[in-house]
Amino acid sequence: MIVKIRKPKLSDAKPLQELINDKTVLKQISGYPYPCPLSRMKKDVRDGIKGWETGKSYSFTILADNETAGSIILENPNKDNGCYDLGFFVGRKFWNKGIATEAIRQIIKFGFKDLKLYRIQADNDSDNPASGKTMKKAGLKLEGIRKKYLKKNNKYIDLQFWGITK
Ligand SMILES: CC(C)(COP(=O)(O)OP(=O)(O)OC[C@H]1O[C@@H](n2cnc3c(N)ncnc32)[C@H](O)[C@@H]1OP(=O)(O)O)[C@@H](O)C(=O)NCCC(=O)NCCS
Repeated sequence: MIVKIRKPKLSDAKPLQELINDKTVLKQISGYPYPCPLSRMKKDVRDGIKGWETGKSYSFTILADNETAGSIILENPNKDNGCYDLGFFVGRKFWNKGIATEAIRQIIKFGFKDLKLYRIQADNDSDNPASGKTMKKAGLKLEGIRKKYLKKNNKYIDLQFWGITK
């Protein structure tokens, strides 16, 4: 399977909305309603395109054998624009094929080579081991754990912090 990341296009909104409109996916992403309307994804894609112009964020659509499989982003730059937060999702039908791992590798390369970043960071809830595993496989290091950081379904969840530096 060939995994590529490319700048978002407005026509990505529909396939991305279909992939994200899934309770299992949204359980691990904050800030999205369920069901997630197409209008919300259209706004996100427009914001993503604008982010490239302002440098506020760099989002990419993930393609697996040329099919839209998810989205990945560098966002929330720090004060000197040398460090960004990483976020990503892959639609459920594409899980466990190495797609997120490969997309993370590619966005890290872009961040260090093209944006000249010195650090990329991310976090995941401890009830989402697949996310931690993809980051580890792509070269991020586990830097710390905030114990009992949030409560989900009446259970305390830790938050794991990941980072990679140049
Ligand atoms: C996390 C996510 C992006 C992973 O995408 P993916 O393309 O399936 O990831 P990969 O195939 O590259 O790697 C997944 C790894 O996790 C492992 N994995 C999957 N479910 C797991 C589980 N419940 N426990 C432990 N490991 C698990 C897989 O076996 C695989 O590891 P392996 O290659 O060593 O076998 C995808 O599940 C997703 O979009 N989830 C919802 C949104 C989300 O969590 N985003 C990240 C927020 S921090």
